[in-house]
Formats: sequence, structure tokens, C-alpha cells
Amino acid sequence: MSFPYTILMIEVTVEQVQKDSLEKEYGAFIVFLTKNEGPLGAPEQLISAFEAQINALKETNDLPEDKKKTSILYSPGLKTKRLGLVGFGEKDEVDLQLIREVSAIIGRKLRDLKSEKIVYIFPEGTSLDSQDIAKAIVEGAILGTYKFTELKTKDKDKFKPITYIGVYSKEDISKGLRWGKVIAESTNLARDLANRPSNIATPTHFVEVAKEYLKKYDNMKIDVLDEKQCKKLGMGAFLAVAKGSDEPAKFLIMEYKGGNPEDKPVVLVGKGVTFDTGGISLKPQSAIVGMKGDCSGAAAVIGAVRVAAELGLPLNVVGLAPLTENMPSGKATKPEDVVYAMNGKSIEIINTDAEGRLILADALCYAERYEPKWVVDLATLTGAIVIALGDQAAGLFSKDDTLRKRLKLAGERSGERLWSMPLFDGYYDQLKSKVADMKNVGGRPAGSATAAAFLSNFAENYPWAHLDIAGIAWVDKSTPLCEEGMTGAGVRVLSELLFDEAKIRNITIE
Ligand code: BES
Ligand code: MG
Ligand code: ZN
Repeated sequence: MSFPYTILMIEVTVEQVQKDSLEKEYGAFIVFLTKNEGPLGAPEQLISAFEAQINALKETNDLPEDKKKTSILYSPGLKTKRLGLVGFGEKDEVDLQLIREVSAIIGRKLRDLKSEKIVYIFPEGTSLDSQDIAKAIVEGAILGTYKFTELKTKDKDKFKPITYIGVYSKEDISKGLRWGKVIAESTNLARDLANRPSNIATPTHFVEVAKEYLKKYDNMKIDVLDEKQCKKLGMGAFLAVAKGSDEPAKFLIMEYKGGNPEDKPVVLVGKGVTFDTGGISLKPQSAIVGMKGDCSGAAAVIGAVRVAAELGLPLNVVGLAPLTENMPSGKATKPEDVVYAMNGKSIEIINTDAEGRLILADALCYAERYEPKWVVDLATLTGAIVIALGDQAAGLFSKDDTLRKRLKLAGERSGERLWSMPLFDGYYDQLKSKVADMKNVGGRPAGSATAAAFLSNFAENYPWAHLDIAGIAWVDKSTPLCEEGMTGAGVRVLSELLFDEAKIRNITIE
């Protein structure tokens, strides 16, 4: 299947608008409210056009001032007929994640009313940084109104996306708007890749999409290793997973050179299992549905590399994605087979469904050639992390305290929460094999920690952290920032970590 099949990501226009926009025709204006203080930053002209209705809401105590409450008002007097109101609750409790969520909630309501162009009124008077607020509004609007519709052939009209987001502000917030747009669209790119079923989003498709999106940057180099090249490099663990599938496996390498040539690169590694059946250790029916999303780590890495390139971050960033299906067949790897990873270590494969750690093992070995400053891998690695943390946070494993702290902070700033998990020595004992250097599973206790301990055997020569995103990669029920389906988890927290690496702690710096 060649690239033109793929529907290119819909780009939203995002811009700051001026006073004259109040006389123009949009689908809606949107105003944020706090308890007792009414609409934040709304110009007089707008308030007076909706005055009678706002007063009526006040009298009935129906103004949606509480967190995440909404109302939509209509005015015959303006060209823009709708005014969306959305509540912040108490002003001193407003944080960036709340802004993202309320922006998303009202954005989705208006999209459902077929408003294609919406204009937010910048909420003045909070203690937060203006560029950060602008970024959060745009992230919320773009993430919250995303819908995966490309495979529908009927009712296309029902799924009209938002095409324009304006933000009315007296202060220059253009950088925040741009950063928000790039991060959210890259997250939606990751969502598209993970939402596409595995008959479409094959390893080859991933490679084609990465090339299509990234080829326009001069300082970007994309390489793809096929199975033969991987064999030459000694990637026996990755190829053991690929063996059972007829779909050719690929090892995707994205090198973005935004820093000085002598700057050590940072490396992002993403698990790219385009479908995980479990292999010969076949998953039961109840566990197999959803496994088209087992490539979410790879999708996030492609998204994060795009963020670095599009924003021109002054860093050298390498993205690595081992891409393969995990299938049972007459050629598939069997339980108790022993294979060698690229660093020569032998692995007894007890369970072919613990395949993510096998493909990551070789990718982590490959990362060594860059002499990286640090390496972070992301993977939908274990069901056990879903049991431990649910959809509230990704598991964060690292013996490097500095990197771990930086990641935790990036998680808080981005709204993608990470929770520190241990790498105790005892977990390594669980992986002892009678015939090889280690087994690929450590039994039921601490399943996420033994998986992380396994990976650390291949990441010994640089600072390293592992994010188990199995619990946050998709949602079964809609949340403010994501309708049911793939979340694009990881793009936002990785972007924030890259900003931190670029010493851009505050987005007002170029
Ligand atoms: N892809 C799964 C992990 C997963 C489970 C992701 C649920 C998202 C939701 C992974 O490859 C896997 O199958 N892990 C096994 C490991 C076990 C065999 C040690 C698991 O978690 O059951
Ligand atoms: Mg194969
Ligand atoms: Zn598996």
C-alpha cells in the first residue's frame, strides 16, 4: 500500500485575532468564567450583545461558573451568533490542565453544533503565564475535537472538524499558539497512526508516514533497516518477534540535527508492534481487541520528532522505532526458544506475548552507537501497569534520579502524568533462566517492574528511563481531551522533556 492512500492530517488554522474580529462571522465566541468574577477578559462589545441572556442566567443562578460547566447563548444582533460559556470554578484553582480540559469540552460542544470556526476570548486575570495559557487553550481545542473518521464512507457531514481556532487577546501570545498547535497536531498524528487498524498501519505504512511528514525538514535524516540489515547487526531478539509474521518488519531511524554537530543526541525509542496477537502464546479473545494500539510508543516517538523539527528545537534528537507484527505461524518463535540480542546476551523466550521487551532490547542496544546524553523508551509494555495505575498515569522506571525528576516535571507541565516505579534488585532474580542469560518473563508478581528490569540489561551504557504507557495509550470512554480511542500518549510529555533539554523552560524564549 503506497502513501497516497493515507489521508493527510487536517491542519487547523490557529491565529491571534484583534478587536475587528468581533464584527466578523464565526461559528462561535467562547468565554471562560470564574466563580463570582464572571467572564474573564471579555470585551464590552461582546458582553453587551449577550447582556439580556447573561443577566437572566445570573438571576436564575445558572451561569456556568463551576468547573467544566457550559452553556451556549445566541444573539441575533451579531454576525457570530453563538457565545459558548465555560466554567473555571475558583480563579485561584485554575491550572494549565484545567484550561486544556475546559477548552476541549466547549470546543467539542461547538464542533457538534457544526461550528467550524471558533474564537476563544483570552482569560485575563489568572496568575499563569500568558503564553502557557494560550498553548493550553489550543492544545485543548485541537485534542478535544479530534475524531478518527477517515475510514467512514457514510455521514461524512456528521463529522465536520474544527478548521479554525482564533484567540482574542491584547497581549502577543503568538508563540504559545504556535507551540500548542504543533504539539496537539503531532499528538493527533500519533493518534491516527495508532487508530488505524493493522491491515492499514503496517510497519511499512509507519515508515511511509514518517517519511511523508518529516522529509520537508533539511536537518532530518530518515533511515530504514529491513530484516536482512537487522540480521547483519545481530538483532536476534527483534527478529524473533518478526519471524511469525508475513508482514516485513522495519527498524525506523529518524535523526533530527537541530543542535551543534558536537552535541550529544538524545534518543527516543518507541515500541512499534502494529498488532500483538501474543504469538504462539496466543492472547484470548478478550485481550486481543485493542492490540492494534500496541504501536503507540512508536507513534508517539514519530510525533515528538515532528515537534522538535517543526519548532526547530536547538537539539540533536534521534527517534528509533522497531516495527513488527507479533503473529503465530509455522515460522513463529516458540516458548523456550533461545535468541541473542545485539549486545550478545542470550534470552530464553518463555512467553512469546512478552514481545515488546524483545524488540526494545535490540533498539536500546542500537541506541548505544549515538553515545547518547540520555535515552527514553515508551511502550505499551505490560497489562500489569494497567492494574497498578489505570489510566491515571504512565509508569516511570529509571535508576537515573536526574532524568527521573526531569521526566516527572515534564509530566506535570504537559498534563501527562508519570508515576515513579521501582527497579529493585530482586526483580532481576525473577528473570533468571536455567539455560540462557535471562528469561523474558518474571512471573506474575510485579509484572511491570520485571519487564523494566529486563530492558535495563540492554541500556547499561547511558542514562535511561522507561515509560510503560499501556494504561494511558487508549481510552474506552471519552474524556475531555480524547474521544474513545487512541490518545497519542507520550507526545506531550516527550515534547516537554525536549523543551527542558533545550533549556527552554519558558516558552517566551525563541
Ligand atoms: N501489548 C501487551 C501489553 C498490554 C496489555 C498493552 C494490555 C495494553 C493493554 C504486551 O505485549 C503483553 O502482552 N504483555 C504481557 C506480558 C506477560 C506475558 C509477561 C502481559 O502484560 O500480559
Ligand atoms: Mg516476518
Ligand atoms: Zn504481547
